[in-house]
Amino acid sequence: MPDPIGKVSIRLAMPADIPILNRLIPESVRSLRHGFYTHAQAEAAIRHVFGVDSQLVSDGTYFVAVDGEQPVACGGWSWRRTLYGGDQRPMGVGNLLDPAVDAARIRAFFVAGTHARRGIGAKLLQACAAAASAKGFTRLELMSTLPGVPFYAKLGFTEIEPVVDTLPDGTQVGFVRMTRAVHLPGDRLP
Ligand SMILES: CC(C)(COP(=O)(O)OP(=O)(O)OC[C@H]1O[C@@H](n2cnc3c(N)ncnc32)[C@H](O)[C@@H]1OP(=O)(O)O)[C@@H](O)C(=O)NCCC(=O)NCCS
Repeated sequence: MPDPIGKVSIRLAMPADIPILNRLIPESVRSLRHGFYTHAQAEAAIRHVFGVDSQLVSDGTYFVAVDGEQPVACGGWSWRRTLYGGDQRPMGVGNLLDPAVDAARIRAFFVAGTHARRGIGAKLLQACAAAASAKGFTRLELMSTLPGVPFYAKLGFTEIEPVVDTLPDGTQVGFVRMTRAVHLPGDRLP
């Protein structure tokens, strides 16, 4: 049985990747928003919400999936409190979480439309869960986009609450706060 993600591999993001990822992210949102966000909501969220949080790149907690040399997806985790948002508008303060009481954050997952539904998002999530587990976290938490909800639900996340974020231009965009244990029964984390 061929590997469903073929020659795609996952590595840590580097500062030089940031401009490339900030082009990949709008492309991902525009191609995968249909049925979840209107054009206006997607464009407002691209402007105010979706983008790389370069703190994650500096922390060594942001991953890139590359097809050959070409980045085709990104996603990360964090030991910082910030729950969502790119450099343009991080939501929540960036102080440190305590693994004994807090859930690690899952942050900014985006897969290129050309590479969607090939298991790349799931593979990125597995890498993030393994890294968060190695740092002592037992739970994960995230703010999902509406297109992300079926993906995270499939990977064992459950809803905490729906959230409506009113962006600086007045556009209202729905999200869902979700959580799950780092380890799922039967998973193969170290
Ligand atoms: C959400 C996202 C990251 C998923 O990435 P992906 O690589 O396509 O996901 P996977 O291939 O690993 O999917 C794993 C499983 O999740 C579920 N899933 C993923 N996308 C889904 C969708 N659009 N609708 C229903 N189920 C979906 C499926 O069960 C899928 O398994 P299957 O393809 O065998 O049925 C991707 O759709 C994306 O980048 N969306 C736009 C940006 C975005 O909203 N990101 C979320 C930020 S919080």
